[in-house]
Amino acid sequence: MSNLAKPLPKTSRKSGALLGLAQIPGDKSISHRALILGALAIGETRITGLLESSDVIATATAMQSFGAEITKNTDSTWSVFGFGVGGFSEPDKIIDCGNSGTGIRLLMGAMATTSITATFTGDQSLIKRPMARVLEPIEQFGAESLSRNNGLLPLTIRGATSPISIDYSSKIPSAQIKSAVLLAALNAPGITIFNEPEISRDHTEKMLSSFGANISNSTSVEGNTVTIVGYPELKPQRVIVPQDPSSAAFLICAALIVKKSEVLLKNICQNPTRNGLIVTLIEMGADIEILNSRVINGEIVADVKVSASELSGVDVPTERVVSMIDEYPILSVVAAFANGKTVMRGIKELRVKESDRIATMAKGLRANGVEVEEGEDYLTVVGNGNNNVSGGSIVQTHFDHRIAMSFLCLGLASSNPVTIDDSRSINTSFPSFFKLMKKLGADIT
Ligand code: S3P
Repeated sequence: MSNLAKPLPKTSRKSGALLGLAQIPGDKSISHRALILGALAIGETRITGLLESSDVIATATAMQSFGAEITKNTDSTWSVFGFGVGGFSEPDKIIDCGNSGTGIRLLMGAMATTSITATFTGDQSLIKRPMARVLEPIEQFGAESLSRNNGLLPLTIRGATSPISIDYSSKIPSAQIKSAVLLAALNAPGITIFNEPEISRDHTEKMLSSFGANISNSTSVEGNTVTIVGYPELKPQRVIVPQDPSSAAFLICAALIVKKSEVLLKNICQNPTRNGLIVTLIEMGADIEILNSRVINGEIVADVKVSASELSGVDVPTERVVSMIDEYPILSVVAAFANGKTVMRGIKELRVKESDRIATMAKGLRANGVEVEEGEDYLTVVGNGNNNVSGGSIVQTHFDHRIAMSFLCLGLASSNPVTIDDSRSINTSFPSFFKLMKKLGADIT
């Protein structure tokens, strides 16, 4: 949670065209991984463009408690002096991951095959989120856990003293589960195999490979299988973090719905396992150009140019969920300004994110005059074209950063202002959100 004790409401109002260039901060997923893998290598890993948000800082603090030395340099890069695979020290305080599901799940996996004990907790949102999905595979490696209410935080893990490798199939396509297993596998003998029904974001695999792990994957109609060999000697790296596509999503979508906007975003990560939103927006008729595509540090990046567009509703297929899992809140805002229905299917994982995002979006959209239909694993938004969203309501964000930013974007194009109850959550992923939006011309106070 933020240091500020009191909620900080914000209001957005119908704005003139959003225009210009914006520098999106570093990718959150890659930032967490760079800190963790840097700590698992011996020597100095240098990170350029680390996202300095509260989620990522919580992971850095946790890795320090496990024995890594992490410092920010005068040139704004970060150095991680790692302790090597299996070199975790037992922390003498509770590991508090704040709001971050990624941080906590990856850390639990990473320490689970070392013979130490650690207790984890998080903020009011994280303590409601399921952890059994990670406890189950790490117990197969030989770790033990004791948790509140069968898988809720706070919880304690006693890492395996004699870890064994595993062959694990996850029913949920989740990069957090996959990464926890791959990180645990580093300190287990032999080969660990992880199967998922579809490929989830693959930053951990890419980064493990560049740090020197022996890792491979194969994808077929049956799913994605990753194979990793235990006990590698990870070599420190220079990591350049590309800009976060999930943060860029808010500026892209705001530019689409605010008339006459034209926005350019540079160096945005275009990893295909993260690109479902752009695919969907283009299907809706969005004017989006992907320019100057190139590979930096193993990740595809490109500049993204967006112009305000007339949009049509679409049916977003279940197969696309995993590549845009974090983008449904902002997509449902865009859908409110499109012509016709947008149906988002197969999205039940949204119920266990920072908030129940299906329920939170449905309630907030309805309160602002948008017709929606909510099911256990789908959300339908009825768009009435660009001039017909009334706005005018106060939205409960449940300390969910993506809900907060989504509704502030809604208010930029709706007839009446939209207020969010609390904006502090935005600091978990996108501390420069207000500064960037203001620079483009957004009216948010
Ligand atoms: C993330 C994976 C996703 C995503 C989260 C970041 C990651 O979660 O929602 O914001 O960095 O691995 P799941 O993989 O559990 O769906």
